[in-house]
Amino acid sequence: MKIALVGATGNIGRQIARHALAHGHQLTVIVRSAQNLPSELTGAHPVIAALDDRDALAAAIAGHDVLASAYGPRPGDDIGQIATVAGQLVAAARQAQVPRVVVVGGAGSLEVAPGVQLVDTPGFPEAYKPYALAAREALKQLQAVEDIDWTFFSPAAEIGPGDERGQYRVQAKTFLADAEGHSRISYADYGAAFVAELEAGKYPKQIITAAY
Ligand SMILES: NC(=O)c1ccc[n+]([C@@H]2O[C@H](COP(=O)([O-])OP(=O)(O)OC[C@H]3O[C@@H](n4cnc5c(N)ncnc54)[C@H](OP(=O)(O)O)[C@@H]3O)[C@@H](O)[C@H]2O)c1
Repeated sequence: MKIALVGATGNIGRQIARHALAHGHQLTVIVRSAQNLPSELTGAHPVIAALDDRDALAAAIAGHDVLASAYGPRPGDDIGQIATVAGQLVAAARQAQVPRVVVVGGAGSLEVAPGVQLVDTPGFPEAYKPYALAAREALKQLQAVEDIDWTFFSPAAEIGPGDERGQYRVQAKTFLADAEGHSRISYADYGAAFVAELEAGKYPKQIITAAY
């Protein structure tokens, strides 16, 4: 496949890039600087384009099968950019006639009961709330899109460094936790799950998640 990836220099994006390259895909990484690209990106084709420059972004992704994004605001950035960027990605994909957009989402938008999202539950950590609410706004924007096959791929509640087990569960819409109530996945396994969905395209126009 020809995959274009935004956010490839981040914790999650690096793992998506690593798995995409390991699976033999042609990978274009959309970066804001070509300096100090992580080793995971050796073999990827870097293109410098600003996310708010629709023409440049569309030119960078033209001819690709899918636009993937692991964008996340860096410390000090406006968290609301999570939603803004989702709109910018869709607009660029539309202009470039790229038929699919798959973005890293947020666990807060997953349902814990019919009609009840995790972010609205009493125990949801205050520190993560602004991110979860911005991610929900991004999801709302995607849910209004009809002409592009978007997927909002939320990590488990906890995602971080750790082993690659090669085993995880994926499901649509609802929050996934293990028997002890823990919802977690390593960056490496999430990257594998994300690339598997890029390949399979099993969940168009849905919110999905991956967890152990
Ligand atoms: N449990 C959960 O639901 C959960 C947990 C963790 C993360 N997340 C979500 O996952 C996403 C990624 O997380 P992460 O930990 O991988 O983030 P990260 O390590 O901070 O990486 C952020 C990525 O976004 C890029 N970026 C930031 N601002 C940009 C801009 N203006 N233009 C172009 N690229 C820009 C960064 O590029 P530079 O290297 O150029 O800065 C980097 O590649 C976030 O949206 C976060 O909310 C969800």
